[in-house]
Amino acid sequence: MKIHSLKITGGFGKSGQPDLVQAFELKMGDVISIVGPTGSGKTTLIDDIALFANRNTPSRRCVFINNEPAPEEFMNDPSKNPIAFITQHTNFLSDLPVRRFLEIHAGIRRRENIAAVLEETFDFANQLTGEPINPDCGMTELSGGQTRALLIADAVTIGNSPIILLDEIENAGIHRTKALELLKRYEKIFIFVTHDPRIALLSDFRIVMQNGAMVKIIEAHDEELRVAEEIKKLDDLILHFRKLIRNGERLTENIMEERLAALGYAA
Ligand SMILES: Nc1ncnc2c1ncn2[C@@H]1O[C@H](COP(=O)(O)OP(=O)(O)O)[C@@H](O)[C@H]1O
Ligand SMILES: [Mg+2]
Repeated sequence: MKIHSLKITGGFGKSGQPDLVQAFELKMGDVISIVGPTGSGKTTLIDDIALFANRNTPSRRCVFINNEPAPEEFMNDPSKNPIAFITQHTNFLSDLPVRRFLEIHAGIRRRENIAAVLEETFDFANQLTGEPINPDCGMTELSGGQTRALLIADAVTIGNSPIILLDEIENAGIHRTKALELLKRYEKIFIFVTHDPRIALLSDFRIVMQNGAMVKIIEAHDEELRVAEEIKKLDDLILHFRKLIRNGERLTENIMEERLAALGYAA
């Protein structure tokens, strides 16, 4: 089944108050974020989407695919489920070497030219994480960042999932701007739960959660996009210093001043 749109209609928050956002709709190629403080219902909303909620979850929200309730087969047959969900707590039970794990997945998905698909997957994953993945490494030996990067790459290239949900991946050492640039090249729907200003500001819009309810939709506008550019520079600066520290170097005021000057800030 070809997916064109995903729509969520509102239900209720934690105290039974109605969602102020009555509905929102996503088309292929859209990237959105869900924001809000801890406990505000972000994971619950993304779970509703992953479960194809149909007034049968505590929030009573409804999910529509191409304007219809999701077909049963999405729930019953994992190979037909269009959603890939990358959660906060992803642990592998299998300690297969990474390459073997991906080969098996590609086989299940009946992908042709497995070698090329695997190469694309590693290439994609390695652009997301600062620490390249060794294909012969065991799945359980991957770092948090490598794990998330591999799962995102796997969902996009091997799983070919049209809808990808990501719950707070920024805590795991993913290169966020790179991720967004890469992801936007694919005609998919991406929904990020995030506190990261870079991801939130580069999204098409963001949904604000409060006390379990969807209270507001904020669309990125010109001024915010300009702010996002500045944040990106500052973030790159911090990434640079992190790299220096990691490489065992000593930081100096001089390096700081040079870097700030290079970005156009007076030191
Ligand atoms: N709409 C809702 N209706 C009922 N309970 C909710 C709702 N939204 C959130 N909750 C409950 O509130 C708690 C925190 O929600 P959660 O989604 O984990 O927040 P967050 O991911 O923003 O930290 C959870 O126990 C969840 O079950
Ligand atoms: Mg959460």
